[in-house]
Amino acid sequence: MAVDLLLGLQWGDEGKGKIVDVLTSNYNIIARFQGGPNAGHTLVFNGMKHVLHTIPSGIFHEKAINLVGNGVVIDPVIFKKELEKLAPHNIDYKKALVVSRKAHLILPTHRLLDAASEASKGKAKIGSTLKGIGPTYMDKTGRNGIRVGDLELDNWKEKYRLLANKHESMVSFYNVDLQYNLEELEVEFFEAVDVLKTLKFIDSEEYLHQAQKDGKAILAEGAQGSLLDIDFGTYPFVTSSNTTAAGACTGLGIAPGSIGKVFGIFKAYTTRVGSGPFPTELFDEDGETMGRVGNEFGATTGRSRRCGWLDLVALRYACQVNGVTQLMMMKADVLSGFKSLKVCTAYRYRGEIIHHLPYNVEAKNVTPIYTDFEGWAEDLTEMNNDSILPKPLNAYIDFLEKELEIPIKVVSVGPDRKQTIFR
Ligand code: IMP
Repeated sequence: MAVDLLLGLQWGDEGKGKIVDVLTSNYNIIARFQGGPNAGHTLVFNGMKHVLHTIPSGIFHEKAINLVGNGVVIDPVIFKKELEKLAPHNIDYKKALVVSRKAHLILPTHRLLDAASEASKGKAKIGSTLKGIGPTYMDKTGRNGIRVGDLELDNWKEKYRLLANKHESMVSFYNVDLQYNLEELEVEFFEAVDVLKTLKFIDSEEYLHQAQKDGKAILAEGAQGSLLDIDFGTYPFVTSSNTTAAGACTGLGIAPGSIGKVFGIFKAYTTRVGSGPFPTELFDEDGETMGRVGNEFGATTGRSRRCGWLDLVALRYACQVNGVTQLMMMKADVLSGFKSLKVCTAYRYRGEIIHHLPYNVEAKNVTPIYTDFEGWAEDLTEMNNDSILPKPLNAYIDFLEKELEIPIKVVSVGPDRKQTIFR
């Protein structure tokens, strides 16, 4: 059976967690394939909000198996806290959660290195979540990393010590003022590793091949967004993994030919957290309104997100890179009350009009060209059927579908599972 993919098409925070949760009843397995606790997937149901960082967003459904794939990086300390938060929900996570032996571990010293690296960059900092993501992937590609499967070896702590010592000397190389107590961090880390070891470790690629043979329905859950992809994003202001469709193949061991539907998730406007170019960013009251109404604060770091109009040039690029087969538009309700709306349809780039994302996307090279749309006043949050959506919103949706040549199958009108309109 084919494996479906669900991906963010912007700079993350599109609302992937909510949609995975909504779709989980159609799937037997939900599999995370990249990223780590830099992600914050928010789910709302029964009046309660849940934020997941490493655990896949199908965890609140009784029957789904949630798989943490080889492409993910795991911080045992954060993972343990996530598990503790599940306790009131009586989830038998030893059954519902399985972890790839090939997933890499984020060590306390990876977090220190992340902090030291960012501090040393000054104004040029990436705006990292400081969860140790970059340094952990560096150790992975540098062939120095420690994997979940290593925890089953008798000598893994020796390997740990060597790597942690090396990291400490690297931290001092950065020559920044970083206060830390590694002994304390290690006590917490080793306790958390013991909890992690109570979970079922699997050879996840074999597990997924067998599941496919057995006709199980699998959904691969992406984290971050396409414009944060290490290859296709706005480098160097990106994360350190492939957030795009290809990442699902390398992060789970599934073959490209076995990919079925590709769900592309985007917000009806655009946000970005951290540094880096953002052509349609707003610095006025409209941007402030989007941030306030949309509650645009990072689920992981609490930082306020930068807001701007929808950028179709960037969105088209993300659809192409991922081979998106259907779109899901989130947070349409946040745009209620704007007299008029803008959508960027092209860029003026060094005097020329272009329709693709150029290599140099910084503000000094790129000026967005907008098409204006009529706004709507109606509150969408109680609407449950697309036939009652305001006309200007339908015109907005029709325009996007025509421009992108991909159907928009879902319009989300609020954070709750129930506030989801299927078209
Ligand atoms: P890192 O992945 O923590 O190193 O952060 C690199 C960049 O990606 C920073 O600009 C972060 O703000 C951004 N980023 C990482 N994860 C997420 C996410 O889940 N949502 C939105 N932005 C993210």
